Amino acid sequence: MTKSRISLFSLFIATAYLISVFAAGSVDANGGGATYVGSKKCKSCHNSAKKGAQFKSWAKSGHANAYKTLGTAEAKEVGAKLGVSDPQNDPKCTKCHVTAYNVDAASLGKKYKKEDGVGCESCHGAGSNYMKKKDMAAISLGKVEGSSLGLTVPDEKLCTSCHNSESPTFKDFKYEEKLKKINHPMPDDYKSSKGYK
Ligand code: HEC
Ligand code: HEC
Ligand code: HEC
Ligand code: HEC
Repeated sequence: MTKSRISLFSLFIATAYLISVFAAGSVDANGGGATYVGSKKCKSCHNSAKKGAQFKSWAKSGHANAYKTLGTAEAKEVGAKLGVSDPQNDPKCTKCHVTAYNVDAASLGKKYKKEDGVGCESCHGAGSNYMKKKDMAAISLGKVEGSSLGLTVPDEKLCTSCHNSESPTFKDFKYEEKLKKINHPMPDDYKSSKGYK
């Protein structure tokens, strides 16, 4: 190869690498290099009754127990049929039962815990870039687009990325019905007192 060909070739490799890095990032929906901070971080600002106690609501939902579930006798039985001997440590199960089951250690904050199961960030995106109080308030006021800081708006498609027939215990999924069971809205009077939509 001539010199210019070699440099063209390295440019090609570098571009391919960058594209693969961006593609991997979007699969994890982790807001451009954001790290997963863990549900306890969100708790510090999202647990008062006045604001809707989102943490309490999550903590008593099945999602908070999704990792623990994989340690039960029932899970072992379900796993055995699929050749999985340790559900809590097998990506065939953790892919839907644990937040950020497949990311590099570098993308996990100090408070991230797999024991959180399906945590806040499974539905709202990795938190490190959007969780500053000032930014969060600006998002709720409609002054900043949440997605620009990695905050995702959870929709039916997100739910059915886990609630589908690939789940060995799947029966059905009726969005409106299931949403009611995990709903954690801010109270209307709180919203209007702050000028949120
Ligand atoms: C990352 C995967 C994942 C996503 C995304 C997800 N879930 Fe779940 N969900 C689970 C798992 C796993 C369980 C079972 C937890 C357990 O019992 O250990 C569950 C349980 C539930 C339950 C309680 C059991 C039941 O079927 O009644 C409800 C309700 C529910 N999810 C609703 C939703 C809704 C609504 C959405 C979307 C807004 C959603 N989930 C998104 C993985 C997910
Ligand atoms: C495609 C996503 C997905 C995968 C993969 C998955 N699960 Fe689940 N799991 C769910 C969801 C969603 C629920 C709650 C609703 C349901 O049963 O579909 C659940 C519920 C469960 C339950 C509770 C069942 C009940 O009736 O309350 C057990 C036990 C379980 N899963 C074990 C496993 C094991 C073991 C594996 C790996 C072999 C696994 N799951 C893989 C999504 C998944
Ligand atoms: C330092 C405080 C703080 C932390 C930490 C924090 N938030 Fe917030 N968050 C807020 C504030 C303030 C608002 C604006 C609404 C309000 O007044 O409660 C908000 C709003 C939101 C909203 C609504 C956005 C909208 O579109 O209106 C979501 C969703 C949210 N936070 C999720 C999270 C998640 C998930 C975490 C953890 C990864 C988190 N927050 C961590 C302070 C915080
Ligand atoms: C299974 C998915 C799921 C999980 C887990 C989850 N959320 Fe949510 N969250 C939603 C959905 C769906 C909405 C409603 C979005 C909408 O109104 O468009 C929502 C809305 C919110 C809002 C805005 C409420 C409003 O009235 O505007 C806040 C704040 C919030 N979530 C915080 C959290 C926190 C904190 C956690 C963890 C303790 C958490 N969420 C866990 C799915 C989830």
